[in-house]
Amino acid sequence: MQTRKTQGLEYLLPIKLFLIAVVLFGYSSSLKIGETCSTTNSNCDAGLLCGTCPANGNTRPICTRIQPVIPTTKVNGLPFNKYSWLTTHNSFARTASMSGTGSTLLAPTNQEDSVTDQLKNGVRGLMLDMYDFNGDIWLCHSFGGTCLNITAFQPAINVLKEIQVFLEENPTEIITIFIEDYVTSLQGLTKVFNASGLSKYWFPVSKMPKTGEDWPTVDDMVQNNQRLIVFTSKSSKEASEGIAYEWRYVVENQYGNGGMIPGSCPNRSESSPMNTSSISLVLQNYFPENPNVTEACVDNSAPLASMMRTCYEAAGRRWPNFIAVDFYQRSDGGGAPEAVDEANGHMTCGCDGIAYCKANATFGTCDVPVLSPPPPSRTSRTGSPQQPSNNSLISKSLQPHWLIGQIFAIFLLLLL
Ligand SMILES: *[C@@H]1O[C@H](CO)[C@@H](O)[C@H](O)[C@H]1NC(C)=O
Ligand SMILES: *[C@@H]1O[C@H](CO)[C@@H](O)[C@H](O)[C@H]1NC(C)=O
Ligand SMILES: *[C@@H]1O[C@H](CO)[C@@H](O)[C@H](O)[C@H]1NC(C)=O
Ligand SMILES: *[C@@H]1O[C@H](CO)[C@@H](O)[C@H](O)[C@H]1NC(C)=O
Ligand SMILES: *[C@@H]1O[C@H](CO)[C@@H](O)[C@H](O)[C@H]1NC(C)=O
Ligand SMILES: *[C@@H]1O[C@H](CO)[C@@H](O)[C@H](O)[C@H]1NC(C)=O
Ligand SMILES: *[C@@H]1O[C@H](CO)[C@@H](O)[C@H](O)[C@H]1NC(C)=O
Repeated sequence: MQTRKTQGLEYLLPIKLFLIAVVLFGYSSSLKIGETCSTTNSNCDAGLLCGTCPANGNTRPICTRIQPVIPTTKVNGLPFNKYSWLTTHNSFARTASMSGTGSTLLAPTNQEDSVTDQLKNGVRGLMLDMYDFNGDIWLCHSFGGTCLNITAFQPAINVLKEIQVFLEENPTEIITIFIEDYVTSLQGLTKVFNASGLSKYWFPVSKMPKTGEDWPTVDDMVQNNQRLIVFTSKSSKEASEGIAYEWRYVVENQYGNGGMIPGSCPNRSESSPMNTSSISLVLQNYFPENPNVTEACVDNSAPLASMMRTCYEAAGRRWPNFIAVDFYQRSDGGGAPEAVDEANGHMTCGCDGIAYCKANATFGTCDVPVLSPPPPSRTSRTGSPQQPSNNSLISKSLQPHWLIGQIFAIFLLLLL
């Protein structure tokens, strides 16, 4: 008996050690925004990414947001133009991709993940540049309006099919595509949308407000399964193919460096003035002429939020329905997802963020913010231990109740 019991215990030892390790490190697999994290084994909560922002002085890796709140999960049933959606500029121009032609890509890139992953993270606006190329429609950049092997990313149908899969799997989600349209082939766009299986989700031009009214509600769009809005930059295609000419329905501020001058939010040349009240949708661009992945975490943080307020005034006190950025996952904490949440809070419930909207409350009645601000994220320069902040893992493990919990759990395991 005695021998057998000892053998049993020896057999259990590795399992016990494993369980102890799980208890000890279990907590570190769930870190909140602003907490110190590990860039090697991403241990932030879902929806967060471990990153630094050296361009902002933030050299300590912290959990940063990459997902906005899907606003319809907090406040449902409003007209489509009462919501704000995270939008990726050149959504298809993914870093380190090869051209579908097999050629090396010499075009700059603007995002770091696939359109599928962008959609999973809550991106709902996609900016796609489409060209006639190789007898098909491709996502491409151009030198002088012509797509080349070295600037051709991939056939558009690949990405359109990713969107189709997402709409199929998520029957209450709505996606908007902004096409920078260089396609001249007859019915070229219609053919590729037909072939992708996206045509059945098409939101018809006839239902788009033309004189500044509200859009149909998101419920209406979902019930009718009209969950794909497509805008083209070519005016003739509205009549010929039923694809909405963007500048009849959307105002946009200047993109590139001209859109990043603090305190000013001019319309881009194709767009009517920002405060044109007969146009119901507002899009805010905020990215430089030359995409810069190391600068993006700065641009997408406080400057983006500040420009959003400038554009709100310029647009006749309207918050942006679309916030378009490069490298949407980069920030020094809240980033573009937080800007989207802020816009949604103002628009849907009159609060500073969608997280503070109260269920069924009257407009302007808000929950008190519960989130503590992220701790300073600069690594200590002197090499001395970093200042413990209440949010960091270090301080967490120093908190008495946490430590006692750990010791108690290990004690129980040893008794097994
Ligand atoms: C471009 O790529 C195609 C293959 O997709 C190839 O046949 C063609 O020769 C390439 N053109 C140039 C100019 O390299
Ligand atoms: C696209 O699909 C619609 C509906 O199936 C069809 O009526 C139309 O002819 C198609 N257009 C093209 C150019 O393939
Ligand atoms: C938008 O701004 C540009 C300046 O970039 C101006 O030339 C243009 O006329 C404006 N658009 C309209 C419709 O006023
Ligand atoms: C719209 O903005 C322009 C400046 O861009 C201003 O001159 C004009 O008065 C504004 N219109 C309205 C209706 O506020
Ligand atoms: C990006 O910005 C940094 C400054 O933060 C600069 O040093 C670098 O050259 C820029 N990269 C590109 C590709 O423009
Ligand atoms: C809000 O209103 C809806 C419908 O009127 C109801 O189903 C829901 O329970 C309400 N929620 C709260 C938290 O009162
Ligand atoms: C931690 O929280 C306590 C109160 O809970 C507060 O007094 C203290 O200033 C906080 N410390 C830091 C570094 O935030």
